[in-house]
Amino acid sequence: MKKKVTKAIFPVAGLGTRFLPATKSIPKEIMTLVDRPLIQYAIDEARAAGIKEFIFVTSRGKSALEDYFDHLPELENTLRKKKRTDLLKTLKDTNMDSGAIAYIRQHRALGLGHAVWCARRLLSNEPFAVILPDDVIAAETPCLQQMVEAHAEIGGNMVAAMDVPDDKTSSYGILDIKEDMGSVVSVKGMVEKPPIGNAPSNLAVIGRYILSPDVMGHLNRIKTGAGGEIQLTDAIAQEIAGPDNVYGYRFKGQRFDCGSKAGFLQATVAFGLGREDLRDEFRDYLADMMSVRSAAQ
Ligand code: G1P
Repeated sequence: MKKKVTKAIFPVAGLGTRFLPATKSIPKEIMTLVDRPLIQYAIDEARAAGIKEFIFVTSRGKSALEDYFDHLPELENTLRKKKRTDLLKTLKDTNMDSGAIAYIRQHRALGLGHAVWCARRLLSNEPFAVILPDDVIAAETPCLQQMVEAHAEIGGNMVAAMDVPDDKTSSYGILDIKEDMGSVVSVKGMVEKPPIGNAPSNLAVIGRYILSPDVMGHLNRIKTGAGGEIQLTDAIAQEIAGPDNVYGYRFKGQRFDCGSKAGFLQATVAFGLGREDLRDEFRDYLADMMSVRSAAQ
């Protein structure tokens, strides 16, 4: 039987410079989509996929992220006394079991591969997940859950994958496809941020991974790659020559690049419209805005 995936690494050490000045004092993972911080979406997705241990790779200035996961017994008591069961539930849904979260520091910004490698001592000889919270995925079945289910069938290493236009391939890890089976693709190569015109396909890696523990071994030895950084993509690519296959998984859902301002705004609109308590008012507002705009054109 294949081993269950119960641990996930969340690389959250990035400086978030694209969101300055906000990120002068708040980690970008605490920035909110509607009323939930980005990191909450990633945690909820991991929990839905059966993850029990959450490993955050952090850096200086991320203490608000650690505080976010503390329980607030005083506030809970106040809400209980006031019979605010709705708010109490919202709060309790974000509580994590003691000991379920570990924080590891990445002391130097040497790349995503290095960030993942920093968590090596917290993993045992079992497959593990990596979630990049910048990639927010709206889906009926949460993306990592889709992948865990597919992984239980086929094993190996699995990366979430999405087709992107030609002019965007240089922003992603790109898969060199061996066999395209529809939602699952077997891979014969992977390139991190290939120069425009050199991408082996249009199938891009999105920030969800289920990896064999051997990937940590490759990260031990790997040299710097694209952008002078230690790349996770390069370590996964080394698995292709080994016994475990590498698969791309075309998830069902909509991905938002919340590492960019435009992506963050799009996600805000989509998640705002997705919320029952806000939908009608927000839709009317957007419709008004659009009609004002078209009248002005
Ligand atoms: C990282 C990965 C890249 C992947 C991307 C998905 O890049 O290195 O392979 O395609 O996430 O969002 P970053 O966006 O952190 O530069």
